[in-house]
Amino acid sequence: MNLPGFRNAPSLMYASFAPAFYFDSDGGPNGGFFRDGRAATLADQAVEPFVTPFEMANADAAAVIDKLRGRPYLTDFTALYGSDVLNDASLALKRVGQAIAAYETESSEFHPFASKFDYWQKGQATLTTQELRGLGLYNNPTKGNCAACHPSTSADGKTPPLFTDFSFDNLGVPRNALIPHNRANSDTAYTPVNSDDGVQSYYDLGICGPLRDNGSMKLSGVCGQFKVPSLRNIALTAPYFHNGQFATLEKAIGFYVRRDTNPDQFYPLSADGSVLKFDDLPGLYGGNFTVNIHEPGSDSGYLSNVNTGEIPFNRSLGAEPALNPQEINDLVAFLCTLTDGYDPDNPNALVLPAQCQAAATGVNSMSRTATP
Ligand code: HEC
Repeated sequence: MNLPGFRNAPSLMYASFAPAFYFDSDGGPNGGFFRDGRAATLADQAVEPFVTPFEMANADAAAVIDKLRGRPYLTDFTALYGSDVLNDASLALKRVGQAIAAYETESSEFHPFASKFDYWQKGQATLTTQELRGLGLYNNPTKGNCAACHPSTSADGKTPPLFTDFSFDNLGVPRNALIPHNRANSDTAYTPVNSDDGVQSYYDLGICGPLRDNGSMKLSGVCGQFKVPSLRNIALTAPYFHNGQFATLEKAIGFYVRRDTNPDQFYPLSADGSVLKFDDLPGLYGGNFTVNIHEPGSDSGYLSNVNTGEIPFNRSLGAEPALNPQEINDLVAFLCTLTDGYDPDNPNALVLPAQCQAAATGVNSMSRTATP
């Protein structure tokens, strides 16, 4: 347990609703598990951490199955899958994955749909005026436009809204220097080196790896994209984004609306004082890549893959951000209504995290800085 990992662990709540990974008709990736969608199914996802050196660090499948042999639920396991299953460690680990996936899919613990928002939709709770303002900003296609990627309506008419469409996007999230693998050329023995631009040896390109292996498939146009996560229980799962760059929702939303109007708040400056915008994508320091996913002819790297056209990103340098500090607070207050555990008969019983209370009282409303 002493090897640092690479990413901010995503929540497993509501994970079972993701479709198996696929490319849509426009070639856009969708679904799958992990932030890069590299596991096709929930069962495939569940087995990976057991044997990943920087997670649970079991040597191999046999080491996991040896531990299973000492567990009180071994008899349930063999009753279901037969005792022969233990003779084949990799098959047994697969069955472990299926059992975990079944738990995550069948138990309502993973998808209670018991937030204030859910009760409000059923007419059993009242949103405050601030929360309603936040919902309006969330849905408004000219303001937050959050619902464009994190839909607030049901996809199939029966499952309550999941606040993700499971698509992938490249938001140009700043490089997080607190991740040891991200320090300039200070790669550890297991940092997957995929750049020789002279400054960084490793870039996390999401769908393009290096944690995800696409074989010989060329995916340049989507490099740097990560899966859109659900926003249910988001107030409980700080920090935010694949690399945990932002500590609070206020800061994460501030990034959405000021990334292009005030980029100096988010990215480092170069020696000549210019802003190194999108500093976590190869291309800033020259076009020398050793990544096999890099296609010839795109030597500017992947900077142009960042979503700059969509609201709230589409404003120019120095323009008024799409949301002001009060509106950001309102949006945070709305996101806090997506926290499970609300009791409509005892509305004050659920204690929300401090960042929700701060949004409700407006104490952070004047903050315009975005230091993570
Ligand atoms: C163009 C699509 C798109 C839009 C519009 C969008 N998001 Fe996102 N959102 C994403 C993607 C993709 C990620 C994951 C990015 C990453 O991890 O690098 C994400 C991640 C997040 C996260 C972090 C979640 C986590 O588990 O770490 C929060 C919070 C969030 N979005 C809130 C919002 C809010 C609030 C809005 C509206 C102001 C919004 N998003 C608009 C695509 C979008």
